Amino acid sequence: MRTKLRGKDFITLRDWSKEEIDILLEVSAEIKEKFLKKEVTPYLLYQTMFLMFFEESTRTRNSMEAGFAQLGGHANFLDTSKMQISHGEVAKDTAAILSSYGHAIACRNCFWGIGNKYLNDMANHSKVPIMNLQCDLYHPMQGIADLMTIIEKKGETKNLKVSIIWAYATTHKKPISVPLTQALLFPRYGIDVTLAYPEGFELPDWVIEEAKENAKKNGGSFRITHNMKEAFKDADIVIPKNWGSWSGKKGDMDLSQFKDWKCTEEMMKLASPDVKYMHALPADRGNEVEDSVLDGPQSIVYDEAENRLHTSKAVMILTMG
Ligand code: CP
Repeated sequence: MRTKLRGKDFITLRDWSKEEIDILLEVSAEIKEKFLKKEVTPYLLYQTMFLMFFEESTRTRNSMEAGFAQLGGHANFLDTSKMQISHGEVAKDTAAILSSYGHAIACRNCFWGIGNKYLNDMANHSKVPIMNLQCDLYHPMQGIADLMTIIEKKGETKNLKVSIIWAYATTHKKPISVPLTQALLFPRYGIDVTLAYPEGFELPDWVIEEAKENAKKNGGSFRITHNMKEAFKDADIVIPKNWGSWSGKKGDMDLSQFKDWKCTEEMMKLASPDVKYMHALPADRGNEVEDSVLDGPQSIVYDEAENRLHTSKAVMILTMG
């Protein structure tokens, strides 16, 4: 099975079967153990990959660069504003050329209505695997690290109560790709998912339909609420995070009316006694979440961020090894 994944793109987990995702999780755990034991893992010796970023990054860039070096390869960071893309070079030409120089291309392009199309254009013209480092629709590198973290902390995922909750933020408008990826992925593992948001911040209809189908097939559930307290109540995991209004309904409006959509200690008290707080980071401290929650004993955000390294390495090993 592992060899069947060689050459496979990693653009969305929707294109990866449950069996393939299970293998990805298994390899992530193995490679994490080796990293913690300080074992050398030169599985991709002398390989080259290109990391194209249209936007800023801390976790994604560094987990990919560090991870690939630990596997014996070299990751070439490319700020797309310094590439001929800024003069209009198209995805086809960039992909055809870079794929003739190395062994994989990874890209972050979150422009709404453009990012995912860009990645697929590259995939259609690349001879090497394309990895999605976040687009307008999906953030599979984050989604798989989140799932690994949930399994590590909670063990059994079946009927675990996980709430994906919209949160107020003053910082840049965040893409929907993290909640969208989680909403589609978690029900595939039998998780009982609650999606909570103020009206206007809905995810696309097709996502909700597919999430419900995934829940039905795998013994979990998927529900939507516009009541934040309801989402916190008895939850085993809460993931309160801001996302923008893709539908444009709340596009430029003053969001201060939603300031109460914040993860506070009071809210956390409504959840299960052993609730865990997750966030893909960066978090808008003081707006999305109180410092005392993010820095408190229920927070597993640093474990979640650390797992980005191990899951990214597993994606590279399986698709490039
Ligand atoms: N969570 C995440 O993707 O972080 P960065 O934007 O820092 O890469």
